[in-house]
Amino acid sequence: MSAEKAIDIKNLTITTQGGRTLVDNISLHLNKGEILGVVGESGSGKTLTAKTIMNLLPENLVCKAQSFCVLGADYLTMEKKAKKALVGSKVGYVPQNTGSYLHPMIKIKDQIADGYLLYTKNNLEEALQRARRLVSAVGIRDTERLLKSYPWQLSGGMRQRVNIAMSLMNKPRLIVADEPTTALDSTVQMQVVDLLKAVNAQHETPVLMISHDLGLVKYYCQRIVVMYAGQIMEEAPVDEVFANPKHPYTRALIKVIPSLNMKKGERLAEIPGQITAKRSAGPGCVFKERCSYCQSACERDIEVKKVNDKHFYRCALDL
Ligand SMILES: Nc1ncnc2c1ncn2[C@@H]1O[C@H](COP(=O)(O)OP(=O)(O)OP(=O)(O)O)[C@@H](O)[C@H]1O
Ligand SMILES: [Mg+2]
Repeated sequence: MSAEKAIDIKNLTITTQGGRTLVDNISLHLNKGEILGVVGESGSGKTLTAKTIMNLLPENLVCKAQSFCVLGADYLTMEKKAKKALVGSKVGYVPQNTGSYLHPMIKIKDQIADGYLLYTKNNLEEALQRARRLVSAVGIRDTERLLKSYPWQLSGGMRQRVNIAMSLMNKPRLIVADEPTTALDSTVQMQVVDLLKAVNAQHETPVLMISHDLGLVKYYCQRIVVMYAGQIMEEAPVDEVFANPKHPYTRALIKVIPSLNMKKGERLAEIPGQITAKRSAGPGCVFKERCSYCQSACERDIEVKKVNDKHFYRCALDL
C-alpha cells in the first residue's frame, strides 16, 4: 500500500449471510491530509463501509476485499486485538447513530475520558481538561453541566456534539465522520464542520466525511465519492464533480441541493423513484429504473470509465 494513503480499499463487498449484496465491489482511498466526501441517498452502503473501517461491522454480515489498509495497517492479515487497538488509539469516529454509541448509564465525563486514558499516559484531570476544550469548541457553553450529565438527559444534537468532541480526544490520525451534522441546526452545523476542517488544516488529519448533503460536502471536501445501491457511481475532485458531472445520478443529486435562493415554502426537487437493491435490480446499471437517460445499453453490466486520472464514473452512456 502507498504510504500516501490513510485508507486504501480494493474491491470491498459486504453481503448478508443469505447472500444479499449490500456493498458491491467498491474501491476507495483517502489520501493523507485530504477531506473526502462520501455522498449518496439512504441505503447506499455509506455507513457499512465506515463501520468496516472502524472494525464495527455487524456480525451477521460477511465482508470480503482484495486489499484493505488503514493507516498503513493491513486489515486482512491483522489480529482482531491489534485492529481494535489501532482504531481505538488512532481513528476518531463520529457514528451516525449517536444515541446507541454512548452508554446511557455512564456520565459523559467518564465516557469521554475513557479512550483517552486507555491509550495515552495522561491522567483523568488532563483528560477532562482536554474534554472541556473540545466540548466548548463544538459550541457547548455549560461544559461542567454537560460533563456531569448522562446521555439520556441530552438532546440528539447535544449527543452528536459530544461524539464529535469524543472523536477528537485522542488526537486521531484519521477521522471517520458519518453524517456528523444531521441532528444540528445550521449554525452549529457550520461550527462543527469548521472544527473538523481546522483539525484537518492544522494537523493534516485525513477525514472521511459521509453525508446526504452534497451542498455541505462541496464546501468542505477536496474529493467526492458518489455511492448508489452499494456501488460507486462517480469519483472525482470536488470542482470537477460540479463542473462536469458524468453520471446521471450525480447530476440528479446536484439538482436537489437546496439552493440558498429558494423562496420560503418552495419544495425541494426530489429524485423520482426509490433505491433498488442490486439483487432485485437484475443485471445492468443499478440506477437504470430511475434514470431519465436509460437505454438498452444500460441493461448490460457497466464498466467503470475514466475521464482522467482522478475522475471515474460507472455509466454505459457518454453524456
Ligand atoms: N446488520 C445488517 N443486516 C442486514 N442488512 C443491513 C445491516 N445493516 C445495514 N443493512 C442494509 O445495508 C444497506 C446499506 O446500509 P447503510 O447503513 O450502509 O446505508 P447508508 O448509505 O449509510 O444509508 P443512510 O444514508 O440512511 O445512513 C441498507 O439496505 C441496509 O438496510
Ligand atoms: Mg448511514
